[in-house]
Amino acid sequence: MSRLQVWIEEKKLHEGAEAIVTSGYWLGKPAIKKFRRPRKWRHPELDSRLTKSRLTSEVRTLLKLQQLDFPTPSIFNLDLKNGIMFMEKVEGDTLVIKLKNELSLIDSKEIFSKLGALLRRLHLCGITHGDLTTTNIILNEDRLVLIDYGLSQSTFEVESYGLDFHVLYECLQATHPNFPEAMNQIVESYLDYDDSKSQIQFEGGTIPKSEEIISRFEQIKSRVRYHD
Ligand SMILES: Nc1ncnc2c1ncn2[C@@H]1O[C@H](COP(=O)(O)OP(=O)(O)O)[C@@H](O)[C@H]1O
Ligand SMILES: [Mg+2]
Repeated sequence: MSRLQVWIEEKKLHEGAEAIVTSGYWLGKPAIKKFRRPRKWRHPELDSRLTKSRLTSEVRTLLKLQQLDFPTPSIFNLDLKNGIMFMEKVEGDTLVIKLKNELSLIDSKEIFSKLGALLRRLHLCGITHGDLTTTNIILNEDRLVLIDYGLSQSTFEVESYGLDFHVLYECLQATHPNFPEAMNQIVESYLDYDDSKSQIQFEGGTIPKSEEIISRFEQIKSRVRYHD
């Protein structure tokens, strides 16, 4: 009988500048291994937000979101010292693949509406994603799951919330021009989301209102246009 292997590696999914992502099995469960070289502190005086590793931010956010019942992959194992995390694999394809291959305009409207509501739910946790592109959204049957929280922040600053929209907007424009209504559909459902059951007032501040965030997004867009 073969020895029980804790991690069985299957294939490399992605090798970026910072992370190597592989899929496999953790104790028999479909899993993802994410390896990031921990960054060394360059200047001890620098803002810790800039210097702390993306893996630490990702773990912190995943744990916080899990506590708040926001759908994210669970962490299976963590080796912060070596920059390795094993997490649950979310089945399905990333939105970039879905939008490029098989999605009709009608189905896409439903997905973009769901994305708007999901983004408001994330923001109501006091978290901004920081890298909201279609490679970081997985369509798991009819459910959307956000992944890759390496640039996420726990914040009350409206700018950070507005930037989530702007990153998504630029991604949709550059990569998915055949869905011209996408951004409007996302914004509409974001604004329609009923905040009334959620806490928005916290000890350290208040989560910005959706109208405020969307108007900041519009400002960021015109700022960027002006500088082009
Ligand atoms: N939990 C997960 N479940 C399924 N696929 C994942 C998961 N995490 C990452 N991936 C896949 O690996 C790719 C890269 O992972 P990601 O966390 O986005 O790393 P990076 O920071 O390098 O972008 C994703 O676009 C996705 O295809
Ligand atoms: Mg990513």
